Amino acid sequence: MIDGRVFVTREIAPDALARLREEFAEVDVWEAFEPPTPEQLAERAAGCVAVVTMITDRVDAALLNAAPTVRVVANMAVGYNNVDVATCSGRDVLVSNTPNVLEETTADLAFALMLAVARHVVASDADTRAGNWGLWHPALWLGRDVWGASLGIVGMGGIGSAVARRARGFDMRIRYTANSRRTEAEAALGAEFVPDLRELLAASDFVSLHVPLTASTHNLIGAAELAAMRPTAFLINTSRGDVVDTEALLAALRAGRIAGAGLDVTAPEPIPADHPLLSLPNVVVTPHIGSASFATRRRMAMMAVENAIAACKGEPMPSRVVG
Ligand code: GLV
Repeated sequence: MIDGRVFVTREIAPDALARLREEFAEVDVWEAFEPPTPEQLAERAAGCVAVVTMITDRVDAALLNAAPTVRVVANMAVGYNNVDVATCSGRDVLVSNTPNVLEETTADLAFALMLAVARHVVASDADTRAGNWGLWHPALWLGRDVWGASLGIVGMGGIGSAVARRARGFDMRIRYTANSRRTEAEAALGAEFVPDLRELLAASDFVSLHVPLTASTHNLIGAAELAAMRPTAFLINTSRGDVVDTEALLAALRAGRIAGAGLDVTAPEPIPADHPLLSLPNVVVTPHIGSASFATRRRMAMMAVENAIAACKGEPMPSRVVG
């Protein structure tokens, strides 16, 4: 039994909580549907040995100052831009994420957004519900083919590769850019490496973003990058909202410099209902649900929990993040 308390910042899968209760002397779970505020998080983490956090929780020096007993931060996400890993490492606080369990599910959503925005799935559904399916006409709701189109993948990690695997089934021409070449993906998926981002953008009918949010990917897609895209091309973002400059995207969509966007992540996030992006018919927005399947969220919860347990027992964490 781990002699200490763990704070879980949201209700997670019951079997993951049961695992924590088997191992920790005390398990405290945030009871509200809304995330804790930074102050509430600090208050509840104080005196804990571990915290299981979500992407909405900021883990920084202020939190660690308020909760100096915390030795482990188990983030229930593959991305960990909400955690100041350098500060954690400087204080010997171990950090983990949840890789290798959500890639396929997130790639499904990237594809769903691609199909939805290119074929007007959401807009035509809304129109139908509004009673406007009055007739059939050969020119109604014409969209762009996903099959056979060229796909530019920005970031060829686990999710990028899972998107590429799906793209093969759609006979897409796959190109990618990444910090380094992924020769296995090239061989297995027929993906072509394009080192220059703008060159990749100019060659793509669909651009799908799969990079982590870091200082070097913040606003990676700005006005110049959007200008490099084809006017018939679509931008798909299932990574982090801040990878795209929202104002530049809005301007590009309004001016018809690109054909549309499918966004599972936005900046700001959550996006307010009166945000101008939501008034555009060629934009589909989902509320950061890339990994949100029952099975995957359960796997993520189990992995976060096993990381917390392992670290508190002095064992290697299944997926430690090193800053
Ligand atoms: C979700 O956004 C994740 O990083 O897992």
